Amino acid sequence: MKFIIEHLDTELYEWSRAEYEHIIKVLGKENVLFTNIKDCSKLQFAECAEKSVKEMNLNKACVLDPEAEQILSPDDKFDYFIFGGILGNNPPEKRTAEFLSQKLGFEKRNLGKKQMSTDTAVIVAWKILNGKKFSELKFIDDPEIEIEEEMNSVMPYRYLADENGKPIICEKVLKLMKKGW
Ligand SMILES: C[S@@+](CC[C@H](N)C(=O)[O-])C[C@H]1O[C@@H](n2cnc3c(N)ncnc32)[C@H](O)[C@@H]1O
Repeated sequence: MKFIIEHLDTELYEWSRAEYEHIIKVLGKENVLFTNIKDCSKLQFAECAEKSVKEMNLNKACVLDPEAEQILSPDDKFDYFIFGGILGNNPPEKRTAEFLSQKLGFEKRNLGKKQMSTDTAVIVAWKILNGKKFSELKFIDDPEIEIEEEMNSVMPYRYLADENGKPIICEKVLKLMKKGW
């Protein structure tokens, strides 16, 4: 089982790099491949390909797309799980469907209908495929993050909650938010 993140933004933003690093910390380098990366020297912590997933002739693959009809289940058996490496926009613009699932024609699954950050979606799918039911996971939607004293910003995504009920957002992303990235 390999997790493929097809980078879809025109640039590789610091924010995306931070999310990608978070994915590797949780899943391990050997389980993940980043594709469609113009300059792999910028992702030295990961397996990386300049090629797009569209040129890879994969079999038994599934795209994770919020627009899919069916939710991912621990019984889903595919060799590859493909995600869009895109920073979310608000409201969501169905870019995963437009740029990935409709183009690839593979089966697709959702993780609920609410948009998650790419790292959250990958980690949630990883947990489900390792036996957790979606209903057993705890989420926080649209968390408010303190940017500086008396100034908060809402992140319009769904995040996993930690054991203290706080959203799991990686440190580097929090720093970028505070810097005004
Ligand atoms: C930030 S999301 C992008 C969502 C984007 N707004 C869109 O238009 O599709 C990045 C990636 O995480 C995965 N993802 C996020 N939320 C998901 C969900 N609820 N169900 C399935 N996949 C999801 C998808 O693979 C998606 O391409």
